[in-house]
Amino acid sequence: MEEKLAKKMEEKLEAPTLNYEAYFSEKALGMKASEIRELLKLVESSDIISLAGGLPNPETFPYDVLEEILPRVIAEHGAQALQYGTTKGYTPLRLEIAELLRRRYGIPISKVDIMITSGSQQGLDLIGRVFINPGDIVVVEAPTYLAALQSFGYYDPKFVQIPLDDEGMRVDLLEEKLRALKAEGKKVKLVYTIPTFQNPGGVTMSKERRKRLLELASEYDFIIIEDGPYNELRYRGEEIPPIKRWDAEGRVLYLGTFSKILAPGLRVAWVAGEPHFIRKLEIAKQGIDLCTNVLGQVIAAEFLKGGHLERHIPRIRAFYKPKLETMLEALDKYMPEGVRWTKPEGGMFVWMTLPEGIDTKAMFEKAVSKGVAYVPGEAFFADRSVKNTLRLNFTYVEDEKIVEGIRRLAEVIKEEMKA
Ligand SMILES: Cc1ncc(COP(=O)(O)O)c(C=O)c1O
Repeated sequence: MEEKLAKKMEEKLEAPTLNYEAYFSEKALGMKASEIRELLKLVESSDIISLAGGLPNPETFPYDVLEEILPRVIAEHGAQALQYGTTKGYTPLRLEIAELLRRRYGIPISKVDIMITSGSQQGLDLIGRVFINPGDIVVVEAPTYLAALQSFGYYDPKFVQIPLDDEGMRVDLLEEKLRALKAEGKKVKLVYTIPTFQNPGGVTMSKERRKRLLELASEYDFIIIEDGPYNELRYRGEEIPPIKRWDAEGRVLYLGTFSKILAPGLRVAWVAGEPHFIRKLEIAKQGIDLCTNVLGQVIAAEFLKGGHLERHIPRIRAFYKPKLETMLEALDKYMPEGVRWTKPEGGMFVWMTLPEGIDTKAMFEKAVSKGVAYVPGEAFFADRSVKNTLRLNFTYVEDEKIVEGIRRLAEVIKEEMKA
């Protein structure tokens, strides 16, 4: 029944009766469907091993805890949870998050306000709305989170890319760039970074670089957008606090989310930052969704209040850690000389660089025909100039499939290197 309905919907799309393009705004005309999504359609409904995904594994969702919390939320907080809420968010949740930031990361919360958003993705869009004028310079990591490029891109900034190495963003190169721009009379408005277990790079910015980035923000007067969805997914190595911890001047807007530590379907996340900034973000949000899903917020608040997060994070880590190890071992075993990849200490992704001259988008169909899929790296670069990289996800498929997927990918790469 459902399939039939879906087919009918598709048929509807295929029979044009109006000149639709004539009605769209210029902005909408400029929007392009992601080619990656198109490519990934090839992967659906087959026995291809997909290392392309970016989803948390549903086995990490805390079903047992939610089975207890959900009925209680309805019984005890129903009138509030099912009602409209304030734009800024459910106050008990905002307080719980503030306490979490203080306790876990040592962030001085006396200087921050917190607004709940419908996913961090909404936070990124709101930041674009509130800060970016056409032509403003926005620094991004190269590579960076694809959907941040989409969100910010809508507001027509000029992207400047700063490469990553094993210690995250090359802050030394950023400094050179800032100096050069200043000499031209130009200024950076925002620097967007995913410092911990970067998506797609997998790497983590060192403490020294975090502090240096803050110094540069002060010296060159820009705002830092710190996106931290993977912070809690550490499987080895030492914790490094968020940049926000050392933010004496209120220059850092910190984005956190429940997507990777509870469940992405809740669509509950937050922005923590200087109250003046948060106030403007709140005004921008009013006209978008009035408020974030209140039921989801109450669930998240109860999850934190009951101390479940502390108990749940070790479960997630224990589930993903062997998957990362399995992937790294398989890469060591099967990949030919000349292929490089990052060795993340957490997160969800490994980033691979193939020898110069190999185009991973062109290679994608061959990989799919051999039964393995990845995300070609090109779209993670603001200028799309890098062709020989790809992203691998290790959180979703079963361990045996990780090994087999890497083995297949290595075969494809070897053939490509020969050709
Ligand atoms: C770096 C980064 N930022 C933001 C998001 C969006 O997360 P949310 O589910 O909170 O919208 C993701 C999701 O994968 C991400 O990787």
